[in-house]
Amino acid sequence: MPPLLPGAAFLRMYPCSHLPGTSAAMMPSDATTPLRGKTVLLTGASRGIGLAAAHQLAQQGAHLIMVCRDPTRGERARQAVQLATPGAAIDLLLCDLSRLADVQRLCDDILARYTRLDVLINNAGVLPNKLEVTEEGHELCWVTNHLSVFVLTNRLLPLLAAVLPGRIITVASEAHWLGEIEASVARRNDPAHNSAFTAYSDSKLANVLFTQALAERLELTGISAVCLHPGIVRSHLFAESSWLMRLSMRLARPFTRSTAQAAAAIIHLATNPDVPKFNGRYFKNGRPARSSGRTKNPGEAHRLWRVSGMETGLDV
Ligand SMILES: NC(=O)c1ccc[n+]([C@@H]2O[C@H](COP(=O)([O-])OP(=O)(O)OC[C@H]3O[C@@H](n4cnc5c(N)ncnc54)[C@H](OP(=O)(O)O)[C@@H]3O)[C@@H](O)[C@H]2O)c1
Repeated sequence: MPPLLPGAAFLRMYPCSHLPGTSAAMMPSDATTPLRGKTVLLTGASRGIGLAAAHQLAQQGAHLIMVCRDPTRGERARQAVQLATPGAAIDLLLCDLSRLADVQRLCDDILARYTRLDVLINNAGVLPNKLEVTEEGHELCWVTNHLSVFVLTNRLLPLLAAVLPGRIITVASEAHWLGEIEASVARRNDPAHNSAFTAYSDSKLANVLFTQALAERLELTGISAVCLHPGIVRSHLFAESSWLMRLSMRLARPFTRSTAQAAAAIIHLATNPDVPKFNGRYFKNGRPARSSGRTKNPGEAHRLWRVSGMETGLDV
């Protein structure tokens, strides 16, 4: 991977902040790179950060593909975005990202329907209140937050390659600092060994490592991949998490961000022309940030890639 500018250098390039409702550390996107004429696929667009991002993407002129799980919530979200931005081109696709068979079906559908994709935003995520294993045998956070991202991104690469420069943005989390990549599926799925929160942290570490491994593979292709922590955000994410988690969120309220602020951080990564220089990096507060010790070992990203390939059956 080419050497990357440290965060301070990035800040010098973007010294001021004009995005509404963003912190001083956030930098404005370049007005010369609007999303008009660009196709953007966004997962988890039905609520929370994703819905706010859908509004902003539509406002910036993107042809927006909203991927939602629930048909009613999805259609309600699509209509709300359409109403707020009447001229916007918006498609709604349905998929339960916790089911890899459904993710594969979604990919088939997208590859058949579209010829281009400029930006892929892997935003959907789940934080349940107890460890859950799906019918396909995957731990719920692992499959929804990571394995689906692995399949969707790899299968849609031909569309991203069709309109260079393509961009892939994955919404990770500071929770990745607590994560590790389990050695076996049995251990990952075992409630005696794993909790919902450790499973969530593991999946968020996977988001960061996946971005690193992907960036390395995409080097010189014109497609770049970055991930970010969106802040602690007042969304639906913690609604079904443990009482301790909900209490922590209540106490943390003065330090939280709105979904619109978090969405602005994503849109910034989708539009800023200098982001590709930071291929593979983890962003926080609008700039490249330090990620956990486990992300410093390139072997760990390669191991995650192998594990993900085996568990999804995707030969990439
Ligand atoms: N909120 C925070 O403080 C925070 C902090 C760090 C990182 N993040 C990350 O930010 C991202 C967005 O989270 P959020 O805070 O906006 O949470 P949210 O309000 O709960 O929204 C999550 C979105 O993901 C979708 N989703 C969940 N499971 C799905 C599935 N099986 N298939 C398809 N879609 C599914 C939800 O759809 P439904 O409407 O169908 O449930 C919803 O649209 C997540 O990746 C999360 O890990 C959030």
